[in-house]
Amino acid sequence: MLRIGYPSVFATELLNGFPADVELIPLPDISESTIDIDVWIPDPYSVKAIKLWPKLRGVKLVLCTMAGTEWIPNLMGPHVTICNAHGAHNISTAEWTISAILAMIKHFPSFMDMQRQGLWKRRFESPARYAAIAGDNRPLYPPVMQEELTGKTVLIVGHGSIGQEIERMLEPFRVNLIRVARTARPNPEVHAISELDSLLPQAEIVVLILPHTAQSDKLIGARQLALLRQGALLVNAARGPIVDTDALVAALQSGRIRAALDVTDPEPLPEGHPLWSCPNLFLTPHVAGSTPQFAPRSLQIAADELQRYIKGEALHNVVQKAV
Ligand SMILES: NC(=O)c1ccc[n+]([C@@H]2O[C@H](COP(=O)([O-])OP(=O)(O)OC[C@H]3O[C@@H](n4cnc5c(N)ncnc54)[C@H](OP(=O)(O)O)[C@@H]3O)[C@@H](O)[C@H]2O)c1
Repeated sequence: MLRIGYPSVFATELLNGFPADVELIPLPDISESTIDIDVWIPDPYSVKAIKLWPKLRGVKLVLCTMAGTEWIPNLMGPHVTICNAHGAHNISTAEWTISAILAMIKHFPSFMDMQRQGLWKRRFESPARYAAIAGDNRPLYPPVMQEELTGKTVLIVGHGSIGQEIERMLEPFRVNLIRVARTARPNPEVHAISELDSLLPQAEIVVLILPHTAQSDKLIGARQLALLRQGALLVNAARGPIVDTDALVAALQSGRIRAALDVTDPEPLPEGHPLWSCPNLFLTPHVAGSTPQFAPRSLQIAADELQRYIKGEALHNVVQKAV
């Protein structure tokens, strides 16, 4: 019988979708003795999983419940097949992105600051804030206190699983969408990353939702930020090092752009880091994928993969095939 090791901290009902003819073995965080399993579902926190790995024996297949598996191949070498939970973060991360965009367009962080101070400020303060960030110095009357997402030009860098979900959720806002991925393709039109510099000046909102790789490291640096319009919103729901942090701090401090970040470089962001006090910035501590629906969804993806493995069918989310 196939032995499936899973973190004992997972509620057992999360494993209801697993095939009946396997042995489910709850794994401790730390073990003095070795543990024999065939399939390993590692703890989502890689630090914990890495500590347990030296005690595991017989692992042929790893079903990771996270999308990111960068840490696994170096740990266990090429003789193990590794699958990720591609798609499990689509809804949560796309919803964070839409929420962050709307929060910034509606100036919610500033209104929250005022609420905390118990201040009813709007007619004199809000128009000045809007004019400063949007660069819109027309003598608008009645005063402007909010902006609209509908009709804006949104550039999505990364048109994979989450990028496409963001696009779906943006549909009701009738935005003008520009898509970018590694390679260009039609229907819908996706531009190649080599065209990024020519597309950035068109965007009012730029969403980063691509993996951090050698190619995407510091993809958004001082030159790219300088290509953005006054008041453009940079949204990073991907990975911190895709943006050059020093360049971002400078662009925010100059008041040229605004940003919403779920991820930073470094992470965690240390106390006193200049990002904490940048103007026009909304920051969350890498939480976009973490909802109550995530664990059941990612374990169902693992259960489906396991069914295919048992039947000898091709696996769907292979990031490393055992040699
Ligand atoms: N904040 C969070 O909590 C959170 C949660 C989940 C995921 N994420 C991040 O989101 C990323 C995307 O996830 P996903 O599931 O959508 O991945 P995915 O389905 O693999 O899609 C990745 C997309 O990025 C594009 N891409 C890859 N390298 C690129 C490059 N150098 N330049 C431009 N485009 C590039 C790919 O282009 P092609 O289509 O041409 O291959 C693809 O469209 C993850 O890698 C992770 O870093 C963050």
